[in-house]
Amino acid sequence: MELKHIAVIGAGTMGNGIAQVCATNGYRVTMIDVNPDALNRAKQTIATSVEKLHSKGKISAEAKQNAIDGITANTDMGAVADADMVIEAATENKTLKLKIFADLDRLTKPDIILASNTSSISITEIAASTKRSAQVAGVHFFNPVPIMALVEVIKGYDTSAQTMQTVVDFARGLGKTPVESADYPGFISNRILCPMINEAIFCVMEGVGTPEAIDEVMKLGMNHPMGPLTLADFIGLDVVLAIMDVLHDGLGDPKYRACPLLRKMVAAGHLGRKSGRGFYTYNS
Ligand code: CAA
Repeated sequence: MELKHIAVIGAGTMGNGIAQVCATNGYRVTMIDVNPDALNRAKQTIATSVEKLHSKGKISAEAKQNAIDGITANTDMGAVADADMVIEAATENKTLKLKIFADLDRLTKPDIILASNTSSISITEIAASTKRSAQVAGVHFFNPVPIMALVEVIKGYDTSAQTMQTVVDFARGLGKTPVESADYPGFISNRILCPMINEAIFCVMEGVGTPEAIDEVMKLGMNHPMGPLTLADFIGLDVVLAIMDVLHDGLGDPKYRACPLLRKMVAAGHLGRKSGRGFYTYNS
């Protein structure tokens, strides 16, 4: 089936980034979120981003306009009815995602692919909440979506080769580089990234270095574009904690235990950039 209309569930950072790159690449996009304020914020974020990309000559005037005018915002999940593919980018919560996929299975055309942008939850379990597990795959984008080149594509236990080929081609069509991962906790990306961030947080807790010192070491010594604590604030400490818990539960190895300081900061509501405070403080 030719993909023309993509529905994106969730208008947060990842959802609006995915909606943007789909729209700038010529797809008709419906962005769905239960919260109308989130949809309005997402449209503003997209407009600012495409303006910047166009002013630097990275996208055409037509692509910019597609993203500004061509994304329909909707609070009703029923708007997925004529989508040719759905990409779910809702909050990283397993119960919520299983419910969303069960709903999508009822509400969408039976032959379409249902994809999840989950950063760590099992694609196999998500697929099992539908009656079309062969047509469920992971398409994991990276923040900021318009800039980052990678899409990690994840094959659930029953995902068909045809579904994998379609999502690989789709990611390439967006100008991204797809890399396939098997469906194990954290896939490839977060199996490696989050334990590194978690270890950096242990270093803060144990006084090995200040957040500034730890970030400087990783930036200057390892050429990382952001230090791990700046990156943790950027991703969201609640997301990092959720991923560490998925790794710990799913792999059962104590090396994946979340740092107690990470847990405490999340309990205190210091979630990083989005809450204004994490390892660093942010103005608005
Ligand atoms: N839209 C448009 N342009 C954007 C943008 C956006 N959303 N975000 C950044 N940019 C542009 C900036 O305008 C700038 O453009 P120019 O170089 O042409 O001026 C360029 O990107 C670089 O931005 P900055 O100068 O502000 O800062 P920077 O050089 O530090 O780059 C960064 C920013 C690209 C985010 C870089 O720091 C980086 O790559 N950091 C690491 C990001 C990362 O690791 N992301 C993955 C997180 S993990 C994840 O997402 C998945 C998960 O499952 C948890």
